Amino acid sequence: MLVNSYEILKHAQDNKYGVGAFNVNNMEIAQAVINAAEALNAPVILQVTQGAIKYAGIEYISSIAQLAANKASVPVALHLDHGTDFEIIMECLRNGFTSVMIDGSKFPLEENIEKTKKVVEIAHAMGVSVEGELGKIAGTEDQVHVEAKDAAYTDPQEAKRFYEETNVDALAIAVGTAHGVYKGEPKIDYDRISEIRAVVDCPLVLHGSSGVPYEALTKAVSLGICKINIDTDIRMAFANSVRKFLDENPNEYDPRKILGPSREAMQAVVEEKIKVFKSDNKAWK
Ligand code: G3H
Ligand code: ZN
Repeated sequence: MLVNSYEILKHAQDNKYGVGAFNVNNMEIAQAVINAAEALNAPVILQVTQGAIKYAGIEYISSIAQLAANKASVPVALHLDHGTDFEIIMECLRNGFTSVMIDGSKFPLEENIEKTKKVVEIAHAMGVSVEGELGKIAGTEDQVHVEAKDAAYTDPQEAKRFYEETNVDALAIAVGTAHGVYKGEPKIDYDRISEIRAVVDCPLVLHGSSGVPYEALTKAVSLGICKINIDTDIRMAFANSVRKFLDENPNEYDPRKILGPSREAMQAVVEEKIKVFKSDNKAWK
């Protein structure tokens, strides 16, 4: 069942668990996420980046994700991840997305607020949820890149102002995670999550959550993180599976035989995350 992301995240916030938001680039990933969510009776968010839209085309990717969501027995939201281009955000609204992110994090606070407010006004009129971002998360997520030296943690007082002035449904914060593969172990600023939680009422979002130790994710959820973004770990499961299969079966050329095992490997990763976030058995009818 396709719902907006606020419905999913508010339920998570009220019941103190985290919801996985998994990046989707093709049919196999969408099926892997939905199969995992259904197997564990968990609400889930399917998200696509502007890069995924560019790669697949908006009609293809939104049709695949919407079909997956509509057929699912659990609540599913379809979300634009790291929307930086106003026109693409509008395209998503026209193509049945139930949630969009406006990532104005590279702009000064005032400008970020202005850009976010504009998207909130339009999206809310259509019943679509909006995620904003404040602070700068290091690493690369498709078209968004931040050098480690330019990363900046979210300031709690700025977060309060941003939330009150924009009326976003969810807020992505920078608290020590990074997009992509970690070199060392990420150090999460837990006090900062609590400080932001104390002054911002809406569900908080943790980006760059692949490779973060599970105890750290559990603690972040207990302090107020409701949406947990996972992309890299799914990509790794996909690539490792395809590599292994072709190493073992160098003469195989049937795409279904090559991609089928990767779908199962990705499902296993998603199931593991759902259990860590404690969103299993939290789906409603
Ligand atoms: O927006 C998506 C993410 O923040 C995913 O980050 O690739 O490090 O899991 P990740
Ligand atoms: Zn991200």
